[in-house]
This record gives sequence, structure tokens and C-alpha cells, in this order.
Amino acid sequence: LPPRPDLDLASLVRTIPDFPKPGIQFRDITTLIGDAAGFSETVRRLCTLAAVHRPDFIVAVEARGFLFGAAMATAMGLGVVPVRKAGKLPGVTIGVDYELEYGVDRLELHEGAVMPGHRVVLVDDLLATGGTILATAALMRNAGAEVAAALFVIDLPDLGGSRRLADAGLACETLIA
Ligand code: PRP
Ligand code: ADE
Repeated sequence: LPPRPDLDLASLVRTIPDFPKPGIQFRDITTLIGDAAGFSETVRRLCTLAAVHRPDFIVAVEARGFLFGAAMATAMGLGVVPVRKAGKLPGVTIGVDYELEYGVDRLELHEGAVMPGHRVVLVDDLLATGGTILATAALMRNAGAEVAAALFVIDLPDLGGSRRLADAGLACETLIA
């Protein structure tokens, strides 16, 4: 599809109150990715941000990060490395525990999926507390890879993630704040 620099991506994201718990304003990207022009333009803008960093891999976080990271990787001619919730990857893994806005979880990476010296760009749909992406960055560092930047479709600045990333020295860019 042709570039659509005029497109307002925020208008394609839906907010659903009290999901998955009372008090959570859930930002639903299914309406964005279900819109052909909206999805295409989202991936194009993410690729423009990622290309600056000349990554060796796109690292995508389960599950919604996979949608954007996989599309970016094919558009950029790169491989995609999935970071998954505990117990999903079949090979030998390294893992890290983390907290999110509505619970605790564990993320895992296949040993050898990235090697020392590789530059990676992390991609997820949304930045809330930053727990997920900081855990992902820790996994990358444990594997010896260099995290060039973390990219998101949506930032929820009130939840403090962007500040935590800045404090941790992790470069971060978002399409919608
Ligand atoms: C959501 C979202 C991010 C994370 C952001 O994923 O897709 O990965 O939370 O929150 P944080 O900045 O506070 O860590 P979730 O764990 O709900 O999983 P899903 O993508 O599998 O739905
Ligand atoms: N992940 C963490 N917080 C979220 C929110 N408010 N909406 C969608 N995904 C989220």
C-alpha cells in the first residue's frame, strides 16, 4: 500500500474500560491492525524508526509485539527473534521474571538466537510500566547483544514506562502517546 503520512493512527486504536481487570483502560490494537491502511502505515513508520539503528535482528515480544515485529522484519529484510512467555519455546532457553500492569510473568529467549555483538531493535505494541521491555532488554544483554532501541506503537506515559526506560539508558520511540 502507498505511504499515508496523513493517517491518524491514534484514531484507529480502541479503548476498552475495565479489561482485563477493573480500572484498566485497555488499548486495543485489533482495530488498528484490522485496517489495511492503518496496519501498513504503522509498520512503515516503525521500520523508518528501526532503520536508523541498522539492526541485525528485530526482537518481538509475545504476543502483540509479534504482529508488528514480524511485519517489520520482512519489510526490512531481517530475521525476527521471538521473546516468549514461559514454557513456549522448545529449545534451551534463558529467562527472566518481570511485573506488568496487571500481574507477574516470565519471559524466555532461545539460547543462541542472538549472539554477542549483534545489534537488535526491540518491538512491542505498547509501553505501560516498562516491565516487559526492560525484562526483554535484560535477556538481550544476558545473551551479549546490544539493544539499539525499543520501539512501540503506543506509550501510556502516566504508567511511567518511558521514564523508567530513560533512567535505564534504553532509547525509546513511540508512534502514539
Ligand atoms: C502487554 C503489552 C506489552 C506489555 C506492556 O502485554 O503487549 O507487552 O503488556 O506492559 P508493561 O510496559 O507494563 O510491561 P501482555 O503481557 O498483556 O501480553 P499479550 O501481548 O500476550 O497480550
Ligand atoms: N498492557 C499493559 N497495560 C495495557 C493497557 N492499558 N492496554 C493494553 N495493553 C496493556
